Amino acid sequence: MAKDGEKGQWKEFIWNPRTREFLGRTASSWGLILLFYLVFYIFLAGLFALTMYVMLQTLDDHKPTWQDRLATPGMVIRPKADETFEIVYTVQNTESWDSYTQILDKFLAPYNDSIQAQKNAECTPDQYFLQEDSGDVKNNPKRSCQFNRTILGECSGIDKRYYGYQDGKPCIIIKLNRVIGMLPGNNGQAPYVTCGAKREDSDKIGELAYYPPNGTFNLMYYPYYGKKAQVNYSQPLVAVKFLNITHNEDVNIECKINANNIPEGSERDKFAGRVSFKLRINSNN
Ligand SMILES: *[C@@H]1O[C@H](CO)[C@@H](O)[C@H](O)[C@H]1NC(C)=O
Ligand SMILES: *[C@@H]1O[C@H](CO)[C@@H](O)[C@H](O)[C@H]1NC(C)=O
Ligand SMILES: *[C@@H]1O[C@H](CO)[C@@H](O)[C@H](O)[C@H]1NC(C)=O
Ligand SMILES: *[C@@H]1O[C@H](CO)[C@@H](O)[C@H](O)[C@H]1NC(C)=O
Ligand SMILES: *[C@@H]1O[C@H](CO)[C@@H](O)[C@H](O)[C@H]1NC(C)=O
Repeated sequence: MAKDGEKGQWKEFIWNPRTREFLGRTASSWGLILLFYLVFYIFLAGLFALTMYVMLQTLDDHKPTWQDRLATPGMVIRPKADETFEIVYTVQNTESWDSYTQILDKFLAPYNDSIQAQKNAECTPDQYFLQEDSGDVKNNPKRSCQFNRTILGECSGIDKRYYGYQDGKPCIIIKLNRVIGMLPGNNGQAPYVTCGAKREDSDKIGELAYYPPNGTFNLMYYPYYGKKAQVNYSQPLVAVKFLNITHNEDVNIECKINANNIPEGSERDKFAGRVSFKLRINSNN
């Protein structure tokens, strides 16, 4: 009996035909609750959309709002086979250096003179290529300067098809990471790259050749205005050719950027403004 009563109570709780209540509430009560939540969520969605809209209005597509104040940009080398920063090969074994020259071929393809002539402008060398916006009038898109592959001379891979790898005088290519708005150099002196051996290897590194001459990054490639503003920007490069490096031994090399207003990489960031790598060229004779 008691069971039946309980069952009846439950049934009545779910649907009470006398009061016409469902789960203890009448249809209009439920309706009001649903209406309240509907209005509440529409209000929340509207508030969210409005906030997003206002935030997006304050963003400029062509310029990052926030940027690390990274005073010293990183440097990278090509070819870089893996994370180890080692270039190790045997002169007589084509397969051991083939991948390096292929990486360089691929890396330099966008620098072909014909492509540069198509995409970029011939700028006045030795001065910054400034294209500032005038107030609210955006000066976009901005032009970029040509960096012709032929500037890299013996390291361009045009005359010397294999970048010197096949005769034990390899080239490596250095680029400076992009930093928006950076104006390297000072008093018209362009930043330049120098490479040297770590102390114990200093008699093994031999003579170096830099392309372009003196290993400079011409001032006309700066400032960089960002990917969206400067769609065709080609980062300037410096190539270093090892003319007389000692074979069959490890040579630890460090290249760094020299510019009056780029501070030396601090202790905290050893990779800023410099790059280290190992070169070992084996040769059977
Ligand atoms: C760039 O030039 C090199 C050498 O002249 C050529 O082999 C290569 O096909 C060119 N690449 C492109 C993408 O035009
Ligand atoms: C780059 O090469 C193109 C095609 O040969 C040439 O017209 C242009 O003057 C060169 N640009 C520079 C900056 O040397
Ligand atoms: C970028 O390069 C393309 C050709 O590849 C050219 O049509 C366009 O005008 C260039 N844009 C700028 C801003 O230089
Ligand atoms: C290279 O540097 C030397 C000495 O600083 C300078 O006399 C020479 O003009 C520079 N060459 C070029 C092409 O910038
Ligand atoms: C190349 O280096 C060796 C020592 O590593 C030296 O004896 C020789 O004179 C150098 N050759 C040239 C052309 O500099």
